[in-house]
Amino acid sequence: MSKEDSKSREQFSSKIGVIAAAAGSAIGLGNIWKFPYEAGKNGGAAFIVVYLVAILMIGLPIMISEFVIGRKARANAVGSFKKLAPKTKWHFTGVMGVVSSFMILSFYGVVAGWTLEYVFLGFQNAFKEQTPQDLKATFDAFSTSPSRPLFWQFLFMALTAWIVAAGVKKGIERISKILMPVLLLIIAILCIRSLSLGENIDPTTGQVIGSSMDGLRFLFQPDFSKINANVILSAVGHAFFTLSLGMGTIITYGSYVNKKNNISKTAFQVTFLDTLIALLSGIAIFPAVFYFNVEPDKGPGLVFTILPSIFQQIVGGYFFTLAFFMLLALAALTSSISLLEVAVSYFSEQLKVERKKATLYTALAITLIGVACSLSLGPWSSFTVLGYNIFGIMEYASANVLLPLGGLLIALFIGWFFPRNDFYDELSNSGTLKLASFRLFFFAVKYLAPIAILIIFLYSAGFLKPLLKYLNILL
Ligand code: PHE
Repeated sequence: MSKEDSKSREQFSSKIGVIAAAAGSAIGLGNIWKFPYEAGKNGGAAFIVVYLVAILMIGLPIMISEFVIGRKARANAVGSFKKLAPKTKWHFTGVMGVVSSFMILSFYGVVAGWTLEYVFLGFQNAFKEQTPQDLKATFDAFSTSPSRPLFWQFLFMALTAWIVAAGVKKGIERISKILMPVLLLIIAILCIRSLSLGENIDPTTGQVIGSSMDGLRFLFQPDFSKINANVILSAVGHAFFTLSLGMGTIITYGSYVNKKNNISKTAFQVTFLDTLIALLSGIAIFPAVFYFNVEPDKGPGLVFTILPSIFQQIVGGYFFTLAFFMLLALAALTSSISLLEVAVSYFSEQLKVERKKATLYTALAITLIGVACSLSLGPWSSFTVLGYNIFGIMEYASANVLLPLGGLLIALFIGWFFPRNDFYDELSNSGTLKLASFRLFFFAVKYLAPIAILIIFLYSAGFLKPLLKYLNILL
């Protein structure tokens, strides 16, 4: 790498800037929209246990690996592998990441668009006196409409592209630094209100309709009989999705991190914040779900029907609704920027397309795929593959297949290809930092994470069934 290379490359301005940007990427719709509905669909607490184990055992080591790769190589997701492993096929991992970014951002832009509609509806006080049933009808009518979600999706994607075209660093740092604490505060208020709902008693019959405590139990009292291959795969896939791992986002952001930053500490902090926000979102949503006695596995519309219901029970609900959906849109924006940045930095650095042009074309292509995702919830819903519509295919294939596969390759790269001393050197900033648990990290990257991902893939593909049967017989 030439001197100019590292000089001309933009960098995050401060320690907080790095954390803010990486947390900005990690914290988004994954935490507040996807986590609750995945947990609801996959049995609640049992899913959460697997997800937490996956975060620690697989997510954290892989996040550290991605930071190391990016900062060492100072290049985009594909270029990094080309620099660190020239004349090999490792850069294919980065190419897969670019494909993942297209797939994820296509449906992500649609859901982010929904949050803008909810800002708009909130502004008009449209949720006032709506029951959860009314709110569900509102959501269903809107999300299946052939035109309205597209308008918001276009707007959101244009905003994302505009920020990415301008070069990302300063903008994201600034938004994220303000956004995170305020978002955390509103979610904490939601948690308190949701938990204090208590018992819902029908005024005419005197019967108990539901209780918020059942929501807590659903979240934290695991019923392990609910665990199966699909639950495990979804929990692990979600761990990747929520931490923005397995597709080079953190490699790309790592390439903008300065040499003095303590990477492993940053990774810890980002992972902690991300997990905290997800768990708090769960605590905000599920007690209310059980209080109102609606189905917990309602799918993608869950937060859009439950949260406005809680806000109605809060003094100043009008302002909270507005603030919340605005913040959610911003949180989605800082994540979508990082998704688009993976593809744009690849096209502009590797294929030498001018940055603005690369941004425009990439965003247009992704928006088009997104249109198909959006329509697949309404007019095109009859088109399905293995029971999944286009939206579902993008969501499932990216989170549950491509990201874990990318993560597996990244872990194998660092654990088995990259020199161990270089890894130590990069993590410890050339020996200036004391790393108490380096051996543990390295063990996790080399053995734990890859073996766990492999087993999960084999298990969910059904390959392990005959073997398990055989073992059963032996036992
Ligand atoms: N982590 C983001 C979220 O939780 C989504 C994302 C996935 C962003 C992959 C970048 C890469 O919303």
